[in-house]
Amino acid sequence: MLAVYAKSINPDDPLAGLEVGERPEPEHADGWTTIDVRAAALNHHDLWSLRGVGLGEDSLPMILGCDAAGTDPEGNAVVVHSVIASDTWRGDETLDPKRTLLSELHQGALAQRVAVPKRNVIPKPAELSFEHAACLPTAWLTAYRMLFTRGDIKPGMTVLVQGASGGVATALTVLASAVGARVWVTSRSEDKRRSALELGAEQAFESGARLPERVDAVMETVGQATWAHSVRSLKPGGTLVVSGATSGSAPPAELNRVFFLQLSVIGSTMGTKDELERLIRFCLERDIRPTIHATMPLTQAHEGFQALLDGDVVGKIVFTV
Ligand SMILES: NC(=O)c1ccc[n+]([C@@H]2O[C@H](COP(=O)([O-])OP(=O)(O)OC[C@H]3O[C@@H](n4cnc5c(N)ncnc54)[C@H](OP(=O)(O)O)[C@@H]3O)[C@@H](O)[C@H]2O)c1
Repeated sequence: MLAVYAKSINPDDPLAGLEVGERPEPEHADGWTTIDVRAAALNHHDLWSLRGVGLGEDSLPMILGCDAAGTDPEGNAVVVHSVIASDTWRGDETLDPKRTLLSELHQGALAQRVAVPKRNVIPKPAELSFEHAACLPTAWLTAYRMLFTRGDIKPGMTVLVQGASGGVATALTVLASAVGARVWVTSRSEDKRRSALELGAEQAFESGARLPERVDAVMETVGQATWAHSVRSLKPGGTLVVSGATSGSAPPAELNRVFFLQLSVIGSTMGTKDELERLIRFCLERDIRPTIHATMPLTQAHEGFQALLDGDVVGKIVFTV
């Protein structure tokens, strides 16, 4: 079958190991099933994998991709929850120390077919296209959990989203404004700031700009480049939720501010199957659809990966299969 896979690891030149070509059909164990993929979304995670973060040489070749929407063997339209917990784990899958995402231990979703545990398969409502559904399981689910489970965001709060254009960041902007939060964003580019306003942000600032007032909560996926600004932008007692560190993971901790202003710094990762089901319902209720930057066939994977690497994207890149 046709697949997009990592043939080698290269921390400095991630696309050097990217291949589009034939891979064996998925084999699955008891309790697993094979999904015919109709659409699969690209995530920054796929670039990290090609750089060797979370993926070792001994696992290669590895089909990339965490997110898929497609059809199950009975022909039902489905969305795949990407967090695979161990068989014996019960409760919040994201807390299982042995959890894994598609494309880490098991072959990923950027392929004609992907094998997944049956319990990770969710019905796809007809109102949601395969392309939109494929955006939800990683970026949008992560944003949902950051805001509503970990960040406890309420209507009327002011929420700062750092790095407005990313897959997670666009989801944060849309979801937070949909529940009545006042969303402020930062971005490095004027065009991307304009896009964020169109998505529902109330104000958009240059990265690092002084804000008119301090905010209740900050949503961080950028890391080192924006961390100090995030900490300094919070009200006393405010909350910083972090799920990513695209620009680096070792910023100055700003500890004096953290304890003196009694800030909460909260980590967040992916989300549960229950949260994914709630996210899907919320999108239908509010007629929300993920922002798709471009849709392209799987055969054009290099183009999509290059755009993500260049930071030349607002929202998600989706591959059709
Ligand atoms: N923990 C989890 O479960 C989880 C889940 C999903 C994602 N993540 C992580 O979260 C991060 C974002 O993921 P994504 O898929 O949304 O990535 P993406 O679509 O590639 O977005 C990248 C974002 O980073 C910003 N950015 C990059 N470098 C920057 C810099 N030097 N200064 C300021 N902003 C910078 C960009 O903002 P502008 O260009 O607008 O300034 C853009 O919003 C990744 O590191 C990813 O691994 C973690």
